[in-house]
Amino acid sequence: MKLALLTLLPTAISATPWPTHKFHTTNISAPILNITTTGPTTPGFLFFAPSTSTSGIPAIYADNGDLIWHGPVGKTYAYQPQTLNGEPVLTFWQGHNVKGFGYGHISILNASYEEIHRVTLPSSESNKFVTATNESFPSYIDIHESTITEDGTIIVTAVNVTQTDLRPVGGKKDGWVQDGLVYEIDIETNKVLFRWSAVEHKAQLPLEYVEYPLNGAGGNSSAPYEYPHLNSVAKYGDHYLVSSRYMCSIFLLDKNGDVVWLFHGQKGGSYILPSTPGSKFCYQHDARIHGHTAIGEPNETITLSLHNNDNTDITLPRRLTTGLVFALYPFNKTSTLLSRTYDAQDPVSAISQGNYQSLHANGTGHYLAGHGAVPKIEEYDVSGRLVMRGWFGAKTNGSSATSTYDWTSYRAYRAEWIGRPKGLPVVSACWGGGDERNVTVWVSWNGATDVEGWRVYGSSSSLESAAAKGLMVLGDVVKDGFETRIMLGASTSLGLDMKGVSAIVVEAVGGVGDGVRSKAVHLGSCSRQRVE
Ligand SMILES: *[C@@H]1O[C@H](CO)[C@@H](O)[C@H](O)[C@H]1NC(C)=O
Ligand SMILES: *[C@@H]1O[C@H](CO)[C@@H](O)[C@H](O)[C@H]1NC(C)=O
Ligand SMILES: *[C@@H]1O[C@H](CO)[C@@H](O)[C@H](O)[C@H]1NC(C)=O
Ligand SMILES: *[C@@H]1O[C@H](CO)[C@@H](O)[C@H](O)[C@H]1NC(C)=O
Ligand SMILES: *[C@@H]1O[C@H](CO)[C@@H](O)[C@H](O)[C@H]1NC(C)=O
Ligand SMILES: *[C@@H]1O[C@H](CO)[C@@H](O)[C@H](O)[C@H]1NC(C)=O
Ligand SMILES: *[C@@H]1O[C@H](CO)[C@@H](O)[C@H](O)[C@H]1NC(C)=O
Ligand SMILES: *[C@@H]1O[C@H](CO)[C@@H](O)[C@H](O)[C@H]1NC(C)=O
Ligand SMILES: *[C@@H]1O[C@H](CO)[C@@H](O)[C@H](O)[C@H]1NC(C)=O
Ligand SMILES: *[C@@H]1O[C@H](CO)[C@@H](O)[C@H](O)[C@H]1NC(C)=O
Ligand SMILES: *[C@@H]1O[C@H](CO)[C@@H](O)[C@H](O)[C@H]1NC(C)=O
Repeated sequence: MKLALLTLLPTAISATPWPTHKFHTTNISAPILNITTTGPTTPGFLFFAPSTSTSGIPAIYADNGDLIWHGPVGKTYAYQPQTLNGEPVLTFWQGHNVKGFGYGHISILNASYEEIHRVTLPSSESNKFVTATNESFPSYIDIHESTITEDGTIIVTAVNVTQTDLRPVGGKKDGWVQDGLVYEIDIETNKVLFRWSAVEHKAQLPLEYVEYPLNGAGGNSSAPYEYPHLNSVAKYGDHYLVSSRYMCSIFLLDKNGDVVWLFHGQKGGSYILPSTPGSKFCYQHDARIHGHTAIGEPNETITLSLHNNDNTDITLPRRLTTGLVFALYPFNKTSTLLSRTYDAQDPVSAISQGNYQSLHANGTGHYLAGHGAVPKIEEYDVSGRLVMRGWFGAKTNGSSATSTYDWTSYRAYRAEWIGRPKGLPVVSACWGGGDERNVTVWVSWNGATDVEGWRVYGSSSSLESAAAKGLMVLGDVVKDGFETRIMLGASTSLGLDMKGVSAIVVEAVGGVGDGVRSKAVHLGSCSRQRVE
């Protein structure tokens, strides 16, 4: 009888949360990254922003799953490693995030992880923003994009509630939409250099192109219809490549904001879609151009990649998510599918977000797929074979049809990176087991990418003199992940008698921060050494 009752409890399946890293030298919570490699991967670290429904962090991980860096805690989107004026930088959005959009700023950090620019887009008389909730914010940059150009400018998106004729999609004449805007902003001066609005170019981007149904929206300013839901923009020369999720379209704008061509994932648009199965796309993310050859010639070719997650909150059953690369031929208005990748052994159906990064300059080499709502990163080789699979989250729901995950990341990138943290290594040290000779030291250096080992010093005098001199080398250890644990007691591998040691200093060995020392840390009892 009791067993029969159990089977009547249907969806109350509580999935096991994904394991997180716990450290002694920082209180951040970051998911473990579980990587499987099946072939040679591209050198570099992995850049993504593990996020729960309430918060997130921009982070860097190594291919062995080690955490390398974590940035400031907060809702984080559009996080990517880039170059600004030839220097490596990290850019990311943080701010107020509402369902699918946001109002915030872009932080630009240098290789020392210091914020060197904060790009904002305030509302002004000439550029006034209206939100669905009538709330106002210090800056209106949306979550979706943060692409730096060669001219020291940054491309971002924004949304604005405005009115338009929604009769083409079955709405009313004075309907309400969440307009999609593109801005190019000068990073140094924060000056707006380019502004483009989809509603203002509606004649070239007709509402009929939108695939997402009206679904009761558009009747008032609190429930605007999501025409066009922009989710990526990149600049090539003086043109802008834009992805519209709800229009299932990728289009190119000239410097005046006119649409040069439009590639519609269901209808073709300016190009005939290839007849190859799997070529159709919708609700896609991260459209990028990797090559534009033979310009003006009959064999003119544009190489275009995108993350095809053809799913939304209202489309069921969920469809397979793929990475697609197309060749577009402007002369004869045709297109071909150059490649289509997915992990056949562990397929993904991402409901939102994601990206597909070309790891080769002309788009013909490896690709890295970040699956957005599904906490999975994949790398594919030149022949489209999976070479790496990495998970960093678990399903929160027993039902596979509508499953969600405890961790997500809007995008994921791979890049080479040398971190030069301005901060010092952080040390936590204590004696445990009631034995003053049994000392455990934990050391981490957030963002240091090439430390090889740690040299541990002890001082038997006061901290002041420890800072000056009187330090004795207790031993060297090899770095072991984000945080290295060093056991110094008489009964441990270093086999030292720690009697009389009252303070510890740890010094980085190897890499760009070779010789940098932590502050001297007083030894305490392990029971009192809780992370702040
Ligand atoms: C972590 O520590 C910082 C100070 O270092 C503090 O501001 C923050 O609230 C702490 N977070 C948690 C989750 O305890
Ligand atoms: C990590 O992956 C391995 C191999 O696929 C698997 O055995 C292990 O259970 C995974 N760990 C987690 C936390 O999922
Ligand atoms: C990062 O910026 C800070 C502040 O401008 C500067 O002190 C530091 O040297 C910079 N680091 C790098 C690697 O450029
Ligand atoms: C926002 O303001 C407009 C105009 O005053 C009003 O019609 C609308 O109901 C307000 N929306 C909310 C969510 O309060
Ligand atoms: C936002 O929409 C309002 C109309 O609702 C309009 O007055 C304003 O200019 C628009 N702002 C931008 C930045 O396009
Ligand atoms: C606006 O429209 C939505 C969707 O139809 C509806 O749920 C909501 O009640 C409307 N709000 C107002 C203030 O009329
Ligand atoms: C269109 O042009 C491209 C580039 O010259 C060529 O490879 C392709 O075969 C042409 N397609 C058709 C259908 O003519
Ligand atoms: C395009 O055609 C020209 C000749 O018309 C040729 O020289 C060139 O190599 C071709 N380019 C590509 C990318 O095929
Ligand atoms: C891309 O670069 C590779 C070599 O790195 C070369 O073999 C290939 O032909 C290039 N493809 C195009 C379309 O330029
Ligand atoms: C969990 O699955 C059930 C049944 O499919 C669904 O109704 C519910 O919305 C899901 N919950 C979440 C948080 O996705
Ligand atoms: C040494 O201290 C560590 C950390 O508190 C503890 O786990 C361990 O049991 C202690 N070992 C001995 C031999 O007391």
